[in-house]
Amino acid sequence: AGGLAMLGGLAGLTGAAPAWAARPELLLRFSHVVAAGTPKGQMALHFQRLVAQRSAGRIRVEVYPDSELYGDEDELEALKLGAVELLAPSLSKFGQAGLPEFEVFDLPFLFDDLAQVRRVTQGPVGRRLLERLAHQQMVGLGFMDGSFKQMSANRPLRTPADFQGLRLRVQASRVLVAQMRALGAEPVVLPFRETRQALARRVVDGAENPLSNFLTQGLQAVQTDLTLTRHGYLGYAVVSHPRFWDSLSAPNRELLQQALAEALEFGNRLSAELDRQALAQVLQLPRLRVHALSGPERAVLQQAAQAVHQGFEQRVGHGLLAEVRRAIA
Ligand code: LMR
Repeated sequence: AGGLAMLGGLAGLTGAAPAWAARPELLLRFSHVVAAGTPKGQMALHFQRLVAQRSAGRIRVEVYPDSELYGDEDELEALKLGAVELLAPSLSKFGQAGLPEFEVFDLPFLFDDLAQVRRVTQGPVGRRLLERLAHQQMVGLGFMDGSFKQMSANRPLRTPADFQGLRLRVQASRVLVAQMRALGAEPVVLPFRETRQALARRVVDGAENPLSNFLTQGLQAVQTDLTLTRHGYLGYAVVSHPRFWDSLSAPNRELLQQALAEALEFGNRLSAELDRQALAQVLQLPRLRVHALSGPERAVLQQAAQAVHQGFEQRVGHGLLAEVRRAIA
């Protein structure tokens, strides 16, 4: 209950402390690119609340949503420079940062449901991936589900022929670029914060998003058709910087770790719940045409996208891919 109001109603809420608030002993700036009402935005605010309560105000988390502090093109750099302490980039964004194995999550039609994703992120593969972040000066603190992505454009996208000639926005992931090409479209890499305007100006024709991002960005105003392809997964990793993380006292680190674990669980529950509610919501939008795919239609798209799996075995790692496939089989 209240989830839908949340999607719209909380947009614009920053969670930053008012200027008069007393100076805390420890400050964590948590920057992300989506709306405050999304599952990720709500997870960050839940984390903020838990930390405030449990530290009795000693530790303050300031949450900066909507790319208002940094966008996805510069947030990793900001973390390295010490301008923020926490980020929750989508897994698709780590490939560009020298960690191509994270792009395994972008492989189209790899996961059927969130239970399969969990078996990967919450198991040995997930642990190793979080550890890998240390190679790029990050501390991996946990995974959070976004949801499955749906395709939008100004026409239905039921068959590979429908994708022909369309310019579709993707995140900066080589797998996603290849996915759009395999489907017949021309991929255009754009930061999240530029996507809505690029759609409005017809610089790009369409995009792929989980429904919570579609709705909170107001993409129904700039797209006429939403096709329920559920072709790929979008998830997040919460990261900090070792310079900051290692400087924490053991009790503070424990408090933060525990609060984050709970916030991530909260976020995961909300992801699933808001995705269901968002589906009901898009079906009622008067000017949006929503298309469900038949089984055979989806199979044809899946077949077209399948080449991407072979093409990227080497980039994401043969062993890793095999392990992921075993975990979800
Ligand atoms: C995107 O760029 O489409 C997503 O990564 C945004 C997000 O963080 O959900």
